[in-house]
Amino acid sequence: STGVVRGADGVVRVAGADVHTLAAEHGTPAYVLDEADLRARARAFREAFEAACAQVGTGADVYYAGKALLTRAVARWVHEEGLRVDTASGGELAVALAGGVPGADIGLHGNNKSDAELHAALDAGVGRIIVDSLVEVDRLADLVAARRAAGTPTDAAPVMVRLTTGVHAGGHEFIATAHEDQKFGLSLAAGPAGGDSPAVTALLRVLERPELRLLGLHSHIGSQILDPAGFAAAAEKVLALRAALAARTGVLVDEVDLGGGYGIAYLPGEVALDPDRAAKEVVHAVADACRALGTPLPRLSVEPGRAIVGPAGLTLYTVGTVKPVRLDDGRVRTYVSVDGGMSDNIRPALYGARYHAELVGRASDAAPVLARVVGKHCESGDVVVHEVQLPGDVRAGDLLAVAATGAYGRSMASSYNLLPRPPVVAVRAGASRVLVRRETVADLLALDVGDA
Ligand code: LLP
Repeated sequence: STGVVRGADGVVRVAGADVHTLAAEHGTPAYVLDEADLRARARAFREAFEAACAQVGTGADVYYAGKALLTRAVARWVHEEGLRVDTASGGELAVALAGGVPGADIGLHGNNKSDAELHAALDAGVGRIIVDSLVEVDRLADLVAARRAAGTPTDAAPVMVRLTTGVHAGGHEFIATAHEDQKFGLSLAAGPAGGDSPAVTALLRVLERPELRLLGLHSHIGSQILDPAGFAAAAEKVLALRAALAARTGVLVDEVDLGGGYGIAYLPGEVALDPDRAAKEVVHAVADACRALGTPLPRLSVEPGRAIVGPAGLTLYTVGTVKPVRLDDGRVRTYVSVDGGMSDNIRPALYGARYHAELVGRASDAAPVLARVVGKHCESGDVVVHEVQLPGDVRAGDLLAVAATGAYGRSMASSYNLLPRPPVVAVRAGASRVLVRRETVADLLALDVGDA
């Protein structure tokens, strides 16, 4: 995060709190969030999209994708910065509400929402439910009708339809295909014998059901995207469908959401996708497409998760075992074991994700060695940082920080090997506090009720 500074003594401070104090107060491993940095990133996204949209005469909403990391405090912070919150389950919805976010500022996603989740969304009066299949359109409408019949006053459910545009992006590349072999959304590709696409069929069904109110169209093309061209390509397809739907039904939907996926820098020297540049390019493409189609601009929304919370977080570990291993080519790799691992960050094992680590508790003049930071789990794929240069005198007791772990670390954490999950700690102006406390072995035992 921007608040990470190494002092002359070699000790790193996060938002003014030194890592020794953080480790002493909260233990390790710990997820450490720089509150000001997180808030600034949220604000930057809102301002970038608001400014770009204002320039072409429309409005923008930024939904923080809570799947990246959702705690009550994080929900409250992003809401205070003018963002809304996108949720993907009843659990995320409950935490966003508990953080004080009004239902009207929350969206609910999911390709297989339960009835309980849909009821919770309607109870909360969420601002939008993103429907993901034809059966869900009817299920949601039937559920609204059933609530009304049971005497629960229920407004028509505000609905966006999630589209599959055939555009997939990630990293530096995007690809566009007509047909899809994945579970999300409704395809734009025509049905058999040129019939209506699944997307059109679902949209017509939404319009037929008085229990639903069609807000708009939704597209999410991927994650860790560094080139905005994919967003523009998807937007063109979504806008063409919007125009076609208007020509056929007279209904021009008000909103288009282009999803999340804004890429961040994980390693030194990597460059994140700049929100200003992304907003300008995406909004420009939307404006061009609308002009070509002869339709007024929709209100635009986006759903960044990683880009807001990822760089604002780091994980603090304590080094344990250090073991040199001689490689076939004669080199030596120093295996540096830390007190966490794949249970607090599954991304290296799951996606081959690369991270950067540094010794943060002291200065060292020792020559660097080729190191691999590994966890304490019982499998060899338990890698935290695949390859990094660390000072050759790295030893047990050293504090080590892994950067940019704010997104999809805690939110995908497990208690594999019954390791209690680390706390989420927030730092502001040199003072830290716990947002999510460390799990304990007592917590794990409490869930295990035995068989008596
Ligand atoms: N909106 C929708 C509909 C999504 O499916 C996602 C991510 C987002 C927004 C937020 O994407 P972001 O801006 O955070 O990239 N667990 C993986 C990423 C999977 C994300 C799935 N959906 C990871 O650790 O990289």
